[in-house]
Amino acid sequence: MAKSVLFSPLRIKDVEFRNRIFVSPMCQYSSEDGLPTDWHLVHLGSRAVGGAALVLVEATAVSPEGRISPWDSGIWSGRHALALQKITAFLKAQGAVPGIQIAHAGRKASTDAPWRGGRPLGTDSGGWQPMAPSPVPFDEVSPVPRAMSREEIERVEDQFADAARYSLEAGFEVLEIHMAHGYLAHEFLSPLSNRRTDLYGGDLENRMRFPLEVAKKVREIWPENLPLFVRISCTDWMEGGWDLVQSVELCRRLKELAVDLIDCSSGGLVPRARIPVGPGFQVPFAEAVRREVGIAVGAVGLITSPVQAEQIVANGQADAVLLARELLRNPYWPLEAARALGVDLPWPPQYRLAKPA
Ligand SMILES: Cc1cc2nc3c(=O)[nH]c(=O)nc-3n(C[C@H](O)[C@H](O)[C@H](O)COP(=O)(O)O)c2cc1C
Repeated sequence: MAKSVLFSPLRIKDVEFRNRIFVSPMCQYSSEDGLPTDWHLVHLGSRAVGGAALVLVEATAVSPEGRISPWDSGIWSGRHALALQKITAFLKAQGAVPGIQIAHAGRKASTDAPWRGGRPLGTDSGGWQPMAPSPVPFDEVSPVPRAMSREEIERVEDQFADAARYSLEAGFEVLEIHMAHGYLAHEFLSPLSNRRTDLYGGDLENRMRFPLEVAKKVREIWPENLPLFVRISCTDWMEGGWDLVQSVELCRRLKELAVDLIDCSSGGLVPRARIPVGPGFQVPFAEAVRREVGIAVGAVGLITSPVQAEQIVANGQADAVLLARELLRNPYWPLEAARALGVDLPWPPQYRLAKPA
């Protein structure tokens, strides 16, 4: 049997991942009152059956107003934790590690589902006024967000900590804090969206304050023996915005707070950014963070072929790869990738007659 790094196990704290293929978090806009539906069980469950090592539940809001849309997944009560237990149990039964991304959408909250155009929803159509570090809208059609008071900052930090508690109750073993893609934490980090003049804006130290306080409060709740991930956008792809140098500093500080892995994405803060999208285009960010900070990293973005994924981990550019759209196209991608790389992976017994000889 061929030797593969992609299909070698990875251990972080007390959790063992059966390989290095993670399901990237993907909003489904299919929840009711933040609660998962049968769609989530089938969608997430299929990817666990397909052989992924970690299945990360989509950006799940820490409060109702932290949702991107009224149909987002949420984790702000014991009811949500209870409803998610069925999913975490199923993922574990398939040999996958259940993980969840917790999030607050900030100024990008209160929009319609993308397949209905994704436009901002006003208060007259089931929406709400978004909040942000500063009253700077995302684009010309977005509403001006309310600048958060110090009390609101503290409240949202506590909501992240509560979400960590509910995530544990739900049976998750990996927690990822969403600090990327132009949502609330990223809005604090970037000078393009953070114009505050108090302790939470201005120089890098001040812009990092809210995300670092969130990480600290979450780490106090999330058990020491379970992995804590943070997804960041390593650059805004804009002059004068957030960039890799600042990301490295942030990651150093996150490492000091006992964050275990940085999931390296990019963009999302401003609509006019020019992003040089191409195969593995964000992998160099993961590689730089891993090298400069000495922390485990995940690479994500247009990773689609088994050989490409194998090379990323075998070359030491990342500890794991996260796949999104390729796993939507094919939930059994890991099983098929193993075969392509000459690795004999056990298939779910129910499917064994379909396993190629
Ligand atoms: C349908 C869809 C929903 C997404 N939702 C999220 C999300 O909830 N959280 C997040 O961090 N990224 C989200 N993303 C971004 C993906 O996780 C991933 O970073 C991106 O699609 C690039 O990876 P890919 O080229 O493998 O698709 C989403 C992407 C898609 C296609």
